Amino acid sequence: MATAQKLRILGIIGSLRAKSYNRQLMINAQQIISHMDNAEIEIFEDIGQLPFVNEDKELDYCQNDDNVKRFKQSIEQSDAVLFATPEYNFSIPGVLKNAIDIGTRPGPKNSFINKAIGVMSASPGNLGGIRAQGVLRQTFFAFGPSTGYPEYILPRAGQAFDEQGKLKDAQAEKLLKSYLQQLVNLALKHKNSSPTTIKSNK
Ligand SMILES: Cc1cc2nc3c(=O)[nH]c(=O)nc-3n(C[C@H](O)[C@H](O)[C@H](O)COP(=O)(O)O)c2cc1C
Repeated sequence: MATAQKLRILGIIGSLRAKSYNRQLMINAQQIISHMDNAEIEIFEDIGQLPFVNEDKELDYCQNDDNVKRFKQSIEQSDAVLFATPEYNFSIPGVLKNAIDIGTRPGPKNSFINKAIGVMSASPGNLGGIRAQGVLRQTFFAFGPSTGYPEYILPRAGQAFDEQGKLKDAQAEKLLKSYLQQLVNLALKHKNSSPTTIKSNK
């Protein structure tokens, strides 16, 4: 299948840390998907360059800020969005929440509408960032009718990768593969269904 016809999944990483486990997880996902013939992951670099949401300025930065335009266009041109988020104090990092909020604005121009959404989280802790995933899910409720989305957690992330950044555990890799297949299936379902019209109350 030609590259142009592949499902486009936009990867958004919620950590700015150079050696981020969530970044490593996203790169593993990208490599796994590259072996599927119908989908690809493009990683958005980087959400730390986006301005803070400010309603007084949003019309200006949505029209004139190259990072905002590139971010919203990348979401709009994708079939699915895959997040890899750390858990910060049982929630998601502020920089990620800010990026999501930027993507939903202004007013009815919510770039996430009709996207299939996948969420992954990696944490050195035993719960793998699952509480952050709950917060992310709550944010997605604001986007309109929920269509469900798959989740993947990677606990004990400090020991999960080898020196090349590859997942060491065959079972963790197998689960990631099957998780990504679920996301691709969800994205195909979204792509083949008619777009949802959602009234904005903002
Ligand atoms: C401000 C802050 C709060 C944190 N809170 C949590 C937490 O609630 N739960 C958790 O599992 N880890 C927590 N951590 C640890 C992160 O999971 C850990 O730093 C992780 O490596 C961050 O993801 P990254 O490797 O992708 O940057 C916190 C880290 C920071 C900096």
